[in-house]
Amino acid sequence: MKVFVTGGAGYIGSHTLVALLAAGHEVCVFDNYSNSSPVSLARVRQLTNRDMEMVEGDICDIDGLTKTLTAFAPDAVVHFAGLKAVGESNDIPLRYYQTNVTGTMNLLAAMDAAECRRIVFSSSATVYGEAQYLPFDEAHPIGPTNPYGRTKAMAEGVIGDWASATPGASAVLLRYFNPVGAHESGRIGEDPQDIPNNLMPFVAQVAVGRRDRLSIFGDDYDTRDGTGERDYIHVVDLAAAHLAAIEYAAHTTGCEAINVGTGQGITVKELVAAYERACGHPIAFEIAPRRPGDVASSYAATAKARELLDWRAALDVDAMCASSWRWQSENPHGFDGD
Ligand code: NAD
Ligand code: UFG
Repeated sequence: MKVFVTGGAGYIGSHTLVALLAAGHEVCVFDNYSNSSPVSLARVRQLTNRDMEMVEGDICDIDGLTKTLTAFAPDAVVHFAGLKAVGESNDIPLRYYQTNVTGTMNLLAAMDAAECRRIVFSSSATVYGEAQYLPFDEAHPIGPTNPYGRTKAMAEGVIGDWASATPGASAVLLRYFNPVGAHESGRIGEDPQDIPNNLMPFVAQVAVGRRDRLSIFGDDYDTRDGTGERDYIHVVDLAAAHLAAIEYAAHTTGCEAINVGTGQGITVKELVAAYERACGHPIAFEIAPRRPGDVASSYAATAKARELLDWRAALDVDAMCASSWRWQSENPHGFDGD
């Protein structure tokens, strides 16, 4: 298939490109590099020994987007491009709505112009908000608690309405839990531009000596060891879920939201212990106050992904940490080293 990938140079996008190219799909990447580097795309090409089209552009520029998408004439779109920092979304909400909601509307309009009817969208478990029960299944009420989460919930709604109104359309809303890890080659991985907001890249930077110690945000939650529990999903498994979602969209119509997680919760202390096994030395940490807005536990019900996509996670927490450590130790300054 011809697949148009917005935000393909980013963390999850680059790993998905490897899977798409390895499966023989023809790819066009559309990215403004606002949170990534074209170096990741060069490495994807090296890893797969496959070429792809790469266009620098912004999903907020509807004319440029429509022109590129129409010229490529894709069979399917995978839509990663967006802003993703929860804290920042409180400070600059309009930029989040502009990019994540208006950008998505622009993309759907461009798809209409190109008569492309299939989309796989990067959504997030954050759309569920406070858990009314666990594990989160796809029928759990939507109730995001921050602007970022609201942009994802709104974009889901827009895509659902588009799919209902467009004959033959098929949309898959993938609700990622906590993506971590890297490609096993160590050539691509997560490369945060600033101080990492998320646990795994922070732990990785402590392990490699870029930061002194991890602050664990609270050890008095109602969990096994008092620290927050999350459903970490290996980015390579997540990439495979996109491949399965494209295949699914090719032979169905309508709009489905599908969780992508392992179904298993891991605490902060358990993740740190796994990282210590991977890197072979202790990770310094201190216990800090709870981070506002954090929940005790979040993990996925995974039956729908198995049933509709025939997909399940295969890689465990040791594989997540080992791959992260290989990427971090071989690229201590991310893609900046190139
Ligand atoms: P990322 O920042 O590494 O990748 C996003 C890519 O989109 C980057 O390459 C960036 O340059 C590009 N981009 C941003 N704004 C753009 C614009 N206006 N026009 C064109 N390109 C633009 O993030 P990621 O972790 O790979 O996340 C990909 C998607 O998955 C995002 O939509 C994010 O919200 C969603 N998601 C991520 C996580 C996570 O924990 N990483 C969890 C749930 C959902
Ligand atoms: N944590 C620490 N110290 C840190 C960073 C995180 O103790 O320096 C803890 C948090 O308190 C939480 C756990 O590690 O208990 C995971 O935190 P992350 O920030 O890595 O992940 P979140 O679950 O808070 O949020 C992430 C993304 C959201 C996404 C959500 C669900 O940031 O965008 O997963 O997919 F919506």
